[in-house]
Amino acid sequence: MAEPKEIPLMEKIVSLCKRRGFIYQSSEIYGGINGFWDYGPLGAELKRNVKELWWNTMTRQRDDVVGLEATIIMSPQIWKASGHVETFADLMVECPITNKRYRADQIEPQSGVVYHYSGAIEDKVKYDAWVTELKGRGERPAFAHQDEAVHPFSVLVQKGKPPESARKVASEYYSKSLFLMRFPILQGERAEPIENTTSYSPDSGAQLSEARPFNLMFKTYVGPVEDKDSVAYLRPETAQAIFAQFKNVLETSRQKVPFGIGQIGKAFRNEVTPRNFTFRSREFEQMELEFFIKPDEVVEAIESFKSSVSSVQPETSELKTGNSKLETPQPDWGWEKWHAYWVEERMKFYEGIGLPRTTLVEYWQKPEELAHYARACVDILFKFPFSKRDEKGELMGEELEGVAARSDFDLSQHARCSGKPMGVFDEELRAAWGKLPKEKQDELWRRYFENRKKYLTKMGVEAEAASKQATEDANGLAKGQYIPHVIEPSAGVDRLTLALICNAYSEVTETDAKGKSETRVILKFHPRVAPIKVGVMPLLKNKPELVKKALEVRDLLRPWMNVFYDDAGSIGRRYARQDEAGTPFCMTIDFDTLGEKPELLDTVTLRYRDDGRQDRVKISELLPLLLEKIR
Ligand code: GAP
Repeated sequence: MAEPKEIPLMEKIVSLCKRRGFIYQSSEIYGGINGFWDYGPLGAELKRNVKELWWNTMTRQRDDVVGLEATIIMSPQIWKASGHVETFADLMVECPITNKRYRADQIEPQSGVVYHYSGAIEDKVKYDAWVTELKGRGERPAFAHQDEAVHPFSVLVQKGKPPESARKVASEYYSKSLFLMRFPILQGERAEPIENTTSYSPDSGAQLSEARPFNLMFKTYVGPVEDKDSVAYLRPETAQAIFAQFKNVLETSRQKVPFGIGQIGKAFRNEVTPRNFTFRSREFEQMELEFFIKPDEVVEAIESFKSSVSSVQPETSELKTGNSKLETPQPDWGWEKWHAYWVEERMKFYEGIGLPRTTLVEYWQKPEELAHYARACVDILFKFPFSKRDEKGELMGEELEGVAARSDFDLSQHARCSGKPMGVFDEELRAAWGKLPKEKQDELWRRYFENRKKYLTKMGVEAEAASKQATEDANGLAKGQYIPHVIEPSAGVDRLTLALICNAYSEVTETDAKGKSETRVILKFHPRVAPIKVGVMPLLKNKPELVKKALEVRDLLRPWMNVFYDDAGSIGRRYARQDEAGTPFCMTIDFDTLGEKPELLDTVTLRYRDDGRQDRVKISELLPLLLEKIR
């Protein structure tokens, strides 16, 4: 008998997500809408936990980060300044037969035989017969026809397949794309074997169009009139609102650079090919921190001055030695140290919610991969089941988060485009600058000037004006003024939620006394993220004393955590249901709880999901014990 076909892991995960109410297709009853997903009862809890953990770790637990909640629709000027209107685009190719668009960099290489055609001519005999037939019905052709199309076109067919399929596609092209040909006769057919080409449609085999940029922002109109003046965009990232509100937050939060502003919220991108379940969606949520730091020249000015007046010789800066002790930020950290610090903080965050380091990859972007304003960027990848594999067969991982050092690009852009200053005043810098030796001042001034000039010329400011502006900016150092740089850890809520589900997914096969085996799913979520923290179960639902006690336990825990009360079915079934929902703890209230064995009065059986271990725990000790595990 043939072995039953192994179901791919991702397929099992997608089906579990639907079956257990983690994730559903949006608008499913109308056939769904591509790239949009809804979170069901368990998914909503899981996602909420992800966001709360991020918010707590990144803002509430720190003195140097505050939060923001901005609108989704903002002035379109913001997206002009950020570069999204001009450049937030993917290179796209289009199939002329299906009109389907593909991202140029995502076409899988194909091999086969390419049939080239030099053009087509109309089959006059058939055409005339058709026109006569139309006339007989009192009709006329809707379009004028074209006798000849001198326009080359090619079609790829898989090796071993007959050329007929190529001819069919090419005929459709000449009649459809050029509209005018009704009965094309293909000209100059020539066959050519080809390997690993990405120039043909994966669906029809037709030659794809030239790659063209396609802006990913969703457009809408604000107000009753739909014209170019009322165009607005759904934000494609949460970051820009933080830059736009930087000055307000600085002035109202009593923060000083270095400090950060965090935001969680929806973002929208009209992705060309949404794929891999929720991984690439068109509506998703981001958790972004913009952490503002002093430019290196400012750090150096302050630190040089400090060391010149200190009797104690300072230790060599960790920034320069690279001897990383990244736990506690130091005043002498430059951007590289801050960047490394945030990469490490984020890795620790993922570990702390149950993604082991072995499932993560730190990918340091190569210089040629960096955005033009970025000095460095580390992508934190998770090894999803759908990730590509390297030559050793190891999963390579897909991006969960990017940690970018974005220089002073964003604030500078908003300063230039809005005409509002985005610089800060730093008393420490002002005091230090005047006391620095002239050579040091000159060196730092020059470096700051060069960086500013480089930025301005890159943004198209003409050389003389750029020099003038950069001089003004560098002169600002002496007055304690500068534009902060930024480190940006930017993560996706939906991607992390999916990573947690994939990581938690495990199966156990159990064989009963009769030799019947059953495979069931356990979602081994870290207790911190688990949608339900604890299942509370009376042993029997028809014993009012047990039910009363179980409800008391539920009400004791409920203000502190998400509790699920379950009295239906056998205890084994109830445990299995909670295992599949990823609930880390279950407790059973039985007759011993009521004092059948007096020494066990007011205790419950606490069962641990991952190893099935069961402990007897006093009800009075439950809360601290569970809180310690879920926080
Ligand atoms: N402000 C920087 C920024 O937006 P990004 O790399 O384009 O950078 C940051 O996005 C994160 O947002 C990604 O690492 C990913 O987790 C999430 N993200 C981006 N596009 C997404 C999409 N189409 N679907 C789901 N998550 C997405």
